[in-house]
Amino acid sequence: MSVIIEINNITKSYSNNKKEKNVVLKGVSTSIERSKIIALVGPSGVGKSTLLHIIGTIDEPDSGEIIYNIDNIPKKLSQFNRSELDIFRNKTIGFVFQFHYLLPEFTALENVMLPKLISGSKPSDTKKEAIKLLELTGVADKQNNKPMELSGGEQQRIAIARALINKPEIVLADEPTGNLDAKNAMSFVDLIKQIQFEFSTTFIIATHSSEIASISDVVLKMKDGKII
Ligand SMILES: Nc1ncnc2c1ncn2[C@@H]1O[C@H](COP(=O)(O)OP(=O)(O)OP(=O)(O)O)[C@@H](O)[C@H]1O
Ligand SMILES: [Mg+2]
Repeated sequence: MSVIIEINNITKSYSNNKKEKNVVLKGVSTSIERSKIIALVGPSGVGKSTLLHIIGTIDEPDSGEIIYNIDNIPKKLSQFNRSELDIFRNKTIGFVFQFHYLLPEFTALENVMLPKLISGSKPSDTKKEAIKLLELTGVADKQNNKPMELSGGEQQRIAIARALINKPEIVLADEPTGNLDAKNAMSFVDLIKQIQFEFSTTFIIATHSSEIASISDVVLKMKDGKII
């Protein structure tokens, strides 16, 4: 067993327009094991998305520390400056988030290629890999379609392919099956399992879905601002 992410005593609060403080995370601590599928569950508003954003380096905690163990070197997120964080994020973490929509003016294939082009790879190599991932996720026949021309399930599959293009060690997903019907949700769950098997990817998935919870290796339950 090896730990890929250590989450130490994370706190986070928001203030509303009346300047009242809403303490969302009240000292979250846990260790995420490498190559596992982790389901993050708990009632709406408990702080699952907030925690995923902090783990994903797109939001900062008020206190506490996240440590990534990558290439056998522990890396504290608080030690990175902004541009180091951007590079780290692009290389290490794939996102399947609902606000992280596919870009409407680009085709499915171009959407999948983008994160790798941004990290400086050659377009010809990137294209080959993107097509491989679209084959793996079962939507290669949609590669020239734009997001508007695709169903919700197809868009999710393309988003997963995009999340994997830089071969991230970690994929963070926020309610990935939230907009899918039962059949598409099940095939999405199968796909996650297959990707874990093939690439040893670590998944952290915030979800209300009992299917995802049932296929996950670990279920982390949040309650009252903590993981219980
Ligand atoms: N940017 C923000 N500004 C103010 N309050 C916020 C912000 N983001 C989240 N919150 C508040 O933090 C709390 C936790 O929200 P969060 O989105 O993390 O919950 P969640 O567990 O993901 O819920 P759901 O299951 O509905 O997605 C909520 O009370 C929410 O209103
Ligand atoms: Mg949420």
